[in-house]
Amino acid sequence: MLLEIKNLNVGFSTPDGEIKAVRGLDLALERGEALGIVGESGSGKSQSVLALMGLLAANARVSGSAKLAGQGSQKDGQKDGQKDGQKDGQNGAIELIGADARTLRRVRGARIAMIFQDPMTALNPHLRVATQMVETLRAHRGLRRRAAMKTAIEMLEAVRIPDASRRIKYYPHQFSGGMRQRVMIAMALSCEPELLIADEPTTALDVTVQDEILELIAELRRRTHTALLLITHDLGVVAGTCDRALVMRDGGCVERGPVERIFEAPETDYTRTLLAAVPRLDG
Ligand SMILES: Nc1ncnc2c1ncn2[C@@H]1O[C@H](COP(=O)(O)OP(=O)(O)OP(=O)(O)O)[C@@H](O)[C@H]1O
Ligand SMILES: [Mg+2]
Repeated sequence: MLLEIKNLNVGFSTPDGEIKAVRGLDLALERGEALGIVGESGSGKSQSVLALMGLLAANARVSGSAKLAGQGSQKDGQKDGQKDGQKDGQNGAIELIGADARTLRRVRGARIAMIFQDPMTALNPHLRVATQMVETLRAHRGLRRRAAMKTAIEMLEAVRIPDASRRIKYYPHQFSGGMRQRVMIAMALSCEPELLIADEPTTALDVTVQDEILELIAELRRRTHTALLLITHDLGVVAGTCDRALVMRDGGCVERGPVERIFEAPETDYTRTLLAAVPRLDG
């Protein structure tokens, strides 16, 4: 198990009282697995994952547990019964909820990377892409400048940015929307995270570019065995990208299961409504 969320609650205190954004969410994700989180606007999808990253707004109150497996557990997982590294009882797992800033900084970027609908939330407009990628690679992977530059160019090539060794010197605004999204994906994956969280990564893009970006994420995942939490209101996107889906409504989970099962035999009317909004199931 890579990530195990138990009884996650997120509330916000507002002048009008407490808003409950996430109510008792449970979620488990295996290494390399892709899980889609779907639900209507305001159902708590984004706040659930922002809670993991320690990125909630200042008026948030969070409770529950989100454990990220110990880093060695991929190779050493079978050696259960061993006494070493039992920081949290289970092979050095890290509790993300309530973790201190230092722990979260170590996890973010290096082990969990996040991409957003708007790439400019992740990119610094004042710095060349090269500078941002090189700094990230040096900080998280300890690469020297020259090796970091080489890796950064390779990553841009992997997300199919033409003429990467020249364009890496561009500022973010010099890329088109779709290309900027690719830059963000390259940056997110350059540190070889174990988990990629993508919150509506393609909503702002036109359909062809959207398909290309999703295919790109799928391809990079096949290569690197990165787990994926994909947030979207579009079940069609989940069908093409994920193994399992979790349907959220009003801060809680109303249905979960393998994607094919949810498409073939949805258990709730709410899921049926979401399915009805999917433009095409074939093709
Ligand atoms: N800082 C805040 N203060 C008060 N309420 C908030 C705050 N941030 C989010 N909320 C509320 O939390 C609820 C869940 O929001 P969330 O962002 O998780 O929705 P979502 O499922 O991601 O929706 P969308 O598909 O529109 O992105 C919403 O009702 C939202 O208004
Ligand atoms: Mg959202």
